[in-house]
Amino acid sequence: MALDLKPEHKTLLALATKAQKNAHAPYSNFFVGAAILDEKAQHHASCNVENAAYPLGQCAEAGAIAAMVASGSKHIKHILIASPNDEFCSPCGGCRQKIAEFADAQTEVHLATKEGKIKTVKFTELLPLAFGFEK
Ligand code: THU
Repeated sequence: MALDLKPEHKTLLALATKAQKNAHAPYSNFFVGAAILDEKAQHHASCNVENAAYPLGQCAEAGAIAAMVASGSKHIKHILIASPNDEFCSPCGGCRQKIAEFADAQTEVHLATKEGKIKTVKFTELLPLAFGFEK
């Protein structure tokens, strides 16, 4: 478990994994969890929520971002995405743009496999030259 995870990020993994269990993914059967640590040191987590009208489904990252904004925070310091299998689940293009809205050059994205292996990248590596990213 959590093979390469720094102590300060263990909470992110725990919260993402907990939310992941509640994912509503009856169409893809691909359960994803996401957790954010914001600028106020508050955590926010969510899971993917699919819909019978497939395009209406929402990614785990989008739910975690919405929870962060609803709580009054506007900055992602760390975001962790928990994959349902042993491959990293990297945010889709749409979620990268959603993360960009609340990220800066220091924002870190942690990708966690089911077995707890972690790959950490800077957000700017995931979406270079992001539209609207001026931080
Ligand atoms: N999904 C996420 O929630 N986050 C990602 O980073 C990639 C994909 C969801 C969307 C859909 O419910 C399912 O995984 C399969 O694509």
